[in-house]
Amino acid sequence: MSNANEKRQAGEAAIRYVEDGAIVGVGTGSTVAFFIEALADLKDRIQGAVSSSEQSTAQLKRLGIPVLDLNSAGPLTIYIDGADECDPHKRLIKGGGAALTREKIVAAASEKFVCIIDSSKLVKLLGTFPVPIEVIPMARSLIGREIVKRGGQPVWRDGVVTDNGNWIIDVHNWQITDPVALESELNQLPGIVTVGLFARRPADVVLVGDRVL
Ligand code: 5RP
Repeated sequence: MSNANEKRQAGEAAIRYVEDGAIVGVGTGSTVAFFIEALADLKDRIQGAVSSSEQSTAQLKRLGIPVLDLNSAGPLTIYIDGADECDPHKRLIKGGGAALTREKIVAAASEKFVCIIDSSKLVKLLGTFPVPIEVIPMARSLIGREIVKRGGQPVWRDGVVTDNGNWIIDVHNWQITDPVALESELNQLPGIVTVGLFARRPADVVLVGDRVL
């Protein structure tokens, strides 16, 4: 089955985790776009969605799904989002679409994180996909040097500005043996806004197509 078909299946299968009356946390990306399409059929049964990006907000609004502010929505029961890589412990690399900061915030505000992927995203060890890191622009070189000290190869995603006005560094060739420790260590560096490792708070459920991992 093609990746696109598996993405569609995963997006549609995630609907079963959406309860009546819920405010749904919504991630970003092509897999999530299939989820949003399916969510539109239920729009009269939910209160609305909290969105993780301008891209998802535009699609939600176009389909008539109310987009709510996280500050007024309070804790969410459910967050649905894709990923760039997923290991056997449901730890993820995210941020291929540069939306990692808001994605991490909405994931943290949600009781259950359902990750929707196609099978190409499954890996034994994280790190083949370059790890996105959102940085404050003036800290780009500083963070680049810190990454080199830690064995990574930083590449500035030139021309990309995040929804928060920041820049992205993609870290190539990282041997990530302990993603929780690496995420925690990087979180301490001044200038890093968000690390695209979702290891400290992994997904709770992973749907690979319509199969529960
Ligand atoms: C965006 C993300 C996406 O979830 C990730 O890039 C996967 O995207 P897709 O579903 O298009 O493969 O983290 O920041």
